[in-house]
Parts: sequence; structure tokens; C-alpha cells
Amino acid sequence: MAADLIAAAASARAASHPAPLPAPATDEAARPTLSVEGIDLHYGAAHILRGVSLEARPGEVTCILGRNGVGKTSLMRAITGQHPVSGGTIRLQGADITRARPFARARAGIGYVPQGREIFPLLSVRENLETGFAPLPRGQRHVPAEVFELFPVLSDMLRRRGGDLSGGQQQQLAIGRALTMRPKLLLLDEPTEGIQPSIIKDIGRAIETLRARGDMAIVLVEQYFDFAWALADRVVVLERGAVAISGARSGLDRSTVSRAVAV
Ligand SMILES: Nc1ncnc2c1ncn2[C@@H]1O[C@H](COP(=O)(O)OP(=O)(O)OP(=O)(O)O)[C@@H](O)[C@H]1O
Ligand SMILES: [Mg+2]
Repeated sequence: MAADLIAAAASARAASHPAPLPAPATDEAARPTLSVEGIDLHYGAAHILRGVSLEARPGEVTCILGRNGVGKTSLMRAITGQHPVSGGTIRLQGADITRARPFARARAGIGYVPQGREIFPLLSVRENLETGFAPLPRGQRHVPAEVFELFPVLSDMLRRRGGDLSGGQQQQLAIGRALTMRPKLLLLDEPTEGIQPSIIKDIGRAIETLRARGDMAIVLVEQYFDFAWALADRVVVLERGAVAISGARSGLDRSTVSRAVAV
């Protein structure tokens, strides 16, 4: 009875006031930015990824861990569209992008910091950052101030050639280039590989700042376990191309995960 009365009062209110916007079917903050559902990937006859599923949500860091050669970079290539999957589905904010071209995925909001950085050695730092403009509409073609706030060294080096930067500076440049695209999903493939400790700290702080903004989902591939564990909200461990462990970090046992990835 009480429920009927509340419903009647609500419909009377609705009749006399503009209807409020209906609540979204799924809570926007909780909806995954990225959903990877049972993907397979082959290089020729070699079956590299086997039914891999994971999700990445805004304001969270999802860490992909695993030993050398388990398929971490192949997973990134599947998500960015650089290599086709042979099964499964990839969704970005609910939209099926499984067959979309890499450029369309970049335009839809996937930013990628590849393993080994792949900056353009003969272009200046500024020009490297400006390559991030490609998927943007004309009005947004400027480097966001955030890039220089996160990595002040880049603003001092805008005219330097990318190839003349240290490895750590190149990694910061590669992250800055991806951020220039204003990604909704940021993929980082082993950003600490071969980088000096002080710059690893800067990169960790940058990831924390981006997470705190709350609107970007971050996928971090790492072999540096302590770094990854300190940042992770969710953890996915790959073994021989398949998910061996997956879940919120708070529900996982650190030493079990660490043993699964120890070399
Ligand atoms: N283009 C390719 N053609 C054929 N095999 C490939 C190719 N790229 C990678 N592989 C193989 O696929 C497997 C997975 O490689 P991948 O680079 O995805 O692993 P990874 O987990 O990123 O390794 P690492 O930790 O060394 O970066 C490896 O056995 C690798 O040799
Ligand atoms: Mg790799």
C-alpha cells in the first residue's frame, strides 16, 4: 500500500514538474571503458592469446602482469587494432570495436604508449607531441597543459630532437603524446622498462594523477611487480596466453600473484 502511495505521489509530481532525466540503465562511473571478451589471437599457426577477458574502468588502473612472451604486448595490439583477433569481442564504452581500424580506435579514445616507446627520433619533442593531434577535431589541436604539469622536463626540451632525449625522457614524451589525444582509455606497455628510478617515480605519480581525475581508464602492462602492485586497482595475470589470475587487487594475495609472475 505504501508503495502505491509513493508511486502515485511520484506520478503527480512528474505531471506538475518537468520529468527528471531517467537514471542510466548502467551506472556511468561503473561501466567499463574497455571490455575484452574471450579473445583469441594468432600469428600464423601460433595460437598466442586464448580466450582472454578483462575489463578496465574509469578512475582505475588495471595491471596486466606476466612473464616474458606470455602475450601482453599481443593483447595491446589486439586492443589497438594493430593485429586482428581470431575470436572474441572488444568493446569500448559498450560499442563493438572488434573489427575497427586502428585509426578509428584512436579517434574513439584509445591512447597507446607502446613497449619501447616508439617516439620519432628525428622529430622535435614538440612535433612528437603534435603527432597526437591526428585523431582530434581541429578545435582541440593543442597540447594539454596537463602534459607539461605531469612532465615539466618536456617543456624545457620542446626543440630537442626526440632521439637526443634519455630513455626516461623518451618514455615521458611517449606518455605525453598519448595524452595529447585526450584518451578515455590509456594503454601503457612496460613504461618502466630500462628507465632510471627517479623517472619511474615520476611516471608512477603521473599515473596516480590521471587515475584521480576519474574519467580515464588505465591499463598498465608491467613486469616490475612492486611498481604494478602499488598502482593496481585490478590485476590480470597472463600465463601462456590465457588469464591465470584476475580480480580486484584488494581480494588477491600479493605473494600468490608475485609467485605467478616471478622469473
Ligand atoms: N609478429 C609476431 N609474429 C610471430 N610471433 C610473434 C610476433 N610477435 C610476438 N610473437 C610471439 O608471440 C608470443 C607473445 O609475444 P608478446 O610480445 O605478446 O609477449 P609479451 O608478454 O609482451 O613479452 P615481453 O614481456 O617480452 O614484452 C611470443 O612467443 C612471441 O615470440
Ligand atoms: Mg611485451
